[in-house]
Amino acid sequence: NSPFKSAVVLADSYSEASELAEIEWDNLGFGVIPTDYMYMMKCTQEGSFSGGELQRFGNIELSPSAGVLNYGQGLFEGLKAYRKEDDTILLFRPEENALRMKQGAERMCMPSPTVEQFVEAVKETVLANKRWVPPPGKGSLYIRPLLMGSGAVLGLAPAPEYTFLIYVSPVGNYFKEGVAPINLIVEDKLHRATPGGTGGVKTIGNYAAVLKAQSAAKANGYSDVLYLDCVHKKYLEEVSSCNIFVVKGNVISTPAIKGTILPGITRKSIIDVARSQGFQVEERLVEVEELLDADEVFCTGTAVVVSPVGSITYKGKRVSYGLDGFGAVSQQLYSMLTRLQMGLTDDKMNWTVE
Ligand code: COI
Repeated sequence: NSPFKSAVVLADSYSEASELAEIEWDNLGFGVIPTDYMYMMKCTQEGSFSGGELQRFGNIELSPSAGVLNYGQGLFEGLKAYRKEDDTILLFRPEENALRMKQGAERMCMPSPTVEQFVEAVKETVLANKRWVPPPGKGSLYIRPLLMGSGAVLGLAPAPEYTFLIYVSPVGNYFKEGVAPINLIVEDKLHRATPGGTGGVKTIGNYAAVLKAQSAAKANGYSDVLYLDCVHKKYLEEVSSCNIFVVKGNVISTPAIKGTILPGITRKSIIDVARSQGFQVEERLVEVEELLDADEVFCTGTAVVVSPVGSITYKGKRVSYGLDGFGAVSQQLYSMLTRLQMGLTDDKMNWTVE
């Protein structure tokens, strides 16, 4: 009665290879490539999810008064699957995404799938779309779980029904720079999150809120925006889509998680990897001024993995880190993490799941 049998049978019976043949595995960016199947599970009025199943990937139907469309009741997650040389597929800490979704659901007044339901659904979806997992070394299959208020509401209230959905897409590098260093601009007028708000959970609205500053930054030639805290306007928070780390000698500092910063799973993993390598890692308030004499700055996230920062512009002044590529510390951490994720090294941490 393995749930995976149905996934494998579905994958085998859907063998239109044409779209797959058109993929340039060497040039994958970070965009939606439609795949074969998505996973859907609904939550009853009583508040528990059941009856999840795979469906052909495609548009979904929603009431115009769905909670997610009207009042932003929605969360998302992101994780990746890597193909190994022996054709097995590895997930990286999927239970951490399940737990984070549960915490976010609590903040957004939504029921959530159990950790077991979440992880099984991810495995089933990846297996059903196995042919879309890039060859080893060419990228990964990005997995996007969504949780949304799909029931109809008009007066402001939690929706009466919820939908959990997972879709996947093969991806390569997130930033157009590839693995080259990115250039950030510090934003000191628009803010991403406020104390007591929802900045610490992965709710969809947090990402809509950063689009304006991000678009302006891109129009001015920057890769992305680095946000400051909205109270003192001097402490680093995060970049639109990832967390930030500052390296000075043997000390690596990153803003502490205090409700306004997303608790990244890559962030948490990099902290552990760095400590295991003898670095002193500090989670604390990091002042924007500290960027001036940092040795290296890098970003972490599921999508961006570990991205070196080449320059940061603050109040019109540009600080460059003089890097053509990775700095020594970010390179070391990037290789340790990605070798683990791709199954190229012994997983002493027990983080990967086949
Ligand atoms: C991820 O890194 O997976 C995210 O969810 C960030 C997103 C903006 C791509």
